[in-house]
Amino acid sequence: MCGIVGYIGGSQAAPILLESLEKLEYRGYDSAGVAVYNKNAIEFAKSKGRLVNLKEKTNNGEDLKGIVGIGHTRWATHGEPSDLNAHPHLSSSGRFAVVHNGIIENYISLKKKLCDKGFEFISETDTEVIAHLFEYYYKGDIMDTIIKVIDRVEGSYALGVLCSDYPDRFFAVRKSSPMIVGLGDGENFISSDVAAIIKHTRDIYYLEDNEIVVLKADGVKVYNTDKEEVKKEVSKVTWDIDAAEKGGYEHFMMKEIEEQPTALEKTISPRIKDGKIVLDDISLTTEDIKKIRKIYIIACGSAYHVGVVAKYVIEKMCRISVETQVASEFRYCDPIVGANDLVIAISQSGETADTLAALKEAKNHGARILSIVNVVGSAIANASDDVLYTWAGPEIAVATTKAYSTQLSVIYLLATYMADKLGLLTSGEYAKLIRDLQELPAKVAEVLENKDKIQYLASKFFNCHSIFFIGRNLDYAVALEGSLKLKEISYIHSEAYAAGELKHGTISLIEDGTLVIAIATNNDLFDKTVSNAKEVKARGAVVMGIATEKNDMSEVADYEIKIPDTSDILLPSLTVIPLQMFGYYVASNKGCDIDKPRNLAKSVTVE
Ligand code: G6P
Repeated sequence: MCGIVGYIGGSQAAPILLESLEKLEYRGYDSAGVAVYNKNAIEFAKSKGRLVNLKEKTNNGEDLKGIVGIGHTRWATHGEPSDLNAHPHLSSSGRFAVVHNGIIENYISLKKKLCDKGFEFISETDTEVIAHLFEYYYKGDIMDTIIKVIDRVEGSYALGVLCSDYPDRFFAVRKSSPMIVGLGDGENFISSDVAAIIKHTRDIYYLEDNEIVVLKADGVKVYNTDKEEVKKEVSKVTWDIDAAEKGGYEHFMMKEIEEQPTALEKTISPRIKDGKIVLDDISLTTEDIKKIRKIYIIACGSAYHVGVVAKYVIEKMCRISVETQVASEFRYCDPIVGANDLVIAISQSGETADTLAALKEAKNHGARILSIVNVVGSAIANASDDVLYTWAGPEIAVATTKAYSTQLSVIYLLATYMADKLGLLTSGEYAKLIRDLQELPAKVAEVLENKDKIQYLASKFFNCHSIFFIGRNLDYAVALEGSLKLKEISYIHSEAYAAGELKHGTISLIEDGTLVIAIATNNDLFDKTVSNAKEVKARGAVVMGIATEKNDMSEVADYEIKIPDTSDILLPSLTVIPLQMFGYYVASNKGCDIDKPRNLAKSVTVE
């Protein structure tokens, strides 16, 4: 949720930390801070609001001298966004400074204990207990202290720690929150993700829970909680530095929308060899597939919407019952899940707290876990039996686009793979699906060419108070995503409804001029959806229709958007593109902060 960075090397730390924090702002952007070691003491600066405030306050970091430091960008959980609640948090003596991403679940009892011992708290955060705990346990040996602190705190953490007794190093440790170590030449880093440090190094250590890292300018050592050194393997980041830059676009979101053909190509093509789907990365045998009693899909947000598509696709193709549930519900519903069930966890970040907890719940019941994840080495990937990575590259905009699209493509690959293994496809059907999958990136590119028309439609409707999305079957699943895209970045109230369900209540909200986006790409259900569109039109709605080239919605639609034809199950990948662009342009017309919508964060590591 929050982003943390740390630096030690030959250069002034604060400007480097601020530049790295810029790349982590997507994780939280309500306050920020840095701490450095300078002139025998820890100095710090913090500022409420966007990172730019902190930059101004510190003259782009130039005012904070010192070659070792830690930094933080916050998404408030405990205590409002304010200078005081911003990290780093210092211990009372000023000996320790701490940045933290995660939640300390037992902070109230720890705080009470520390208060009883005379410690004074100045913020409302859970993190401040860590700074004081360091002080409380410190008897001169920093490793012993770190081990004691992490033994006492419950919850999740990625911590960067400065101690003024060790001016030539800083410390880091993580549990269930992301943090990587970057290995440079005469300089070393910690960061919540690769994007923040790729400018400096591509050599990375991925960390296990509770591995303690000691970073000096000339080297990094990693220890376990028995103080034994752990030999780590260096991983090379392969993606290009441009992937984490805006590259001339006004917003990351539009850049990422336009990257979808490439992201799809990268995700699909390595998995199709000689006309066959090859899922070498997973160990699901034909026997395993035949034994599956039920599939559960668990995810949050847009990834959940991929799960809704997946339910229709997998049930239709594989005739296996699929239940898609939001992870925050699944984890507490005492699920009836067991050894013969397959649980598919879908997550871009691989760190969403609810998805991870739901996955663990399913695992405890003996289910097999397959995850679809974008971030290599993430907690969800690590906790799964099998992982199918989406190769979308880094996604920075809070509103997901290319990750959603690549997740869909993995679902198509998996469903087609399983249906084939189950003998449910003729060779002709299989070959057509493979052909259409291979053509999908080009077709997405074709839909992207419709930009001008969508921009025009957005300019007509950006003042609406409320917009409805309707569709049936897969069109309904995409309606959910279209509605979410619009509301999260434009702040326009929006609802997605199964078209046939409208008449059971929601239709009472339709009045003169209400915009209803009717998605009718499904051939078999085209007439049904058109009938529902007529029902709303008769009550004054303005209808924007989305259909494939072979169907004509002009009898009901005031405006019509066409998408190319493909296999039925693949249509969501094409339908969603105009909806992403519509949300984007509506938000742009309203002057919204598209990449960083209010109250949201990209990576949600709290319940
Ligand atoms: C946040 C993001 C959404 C995302 C959801 C799940 O709410 O704003 O775009 O769909 O988290 O994230 P995940 O990383 O698990 O896909």
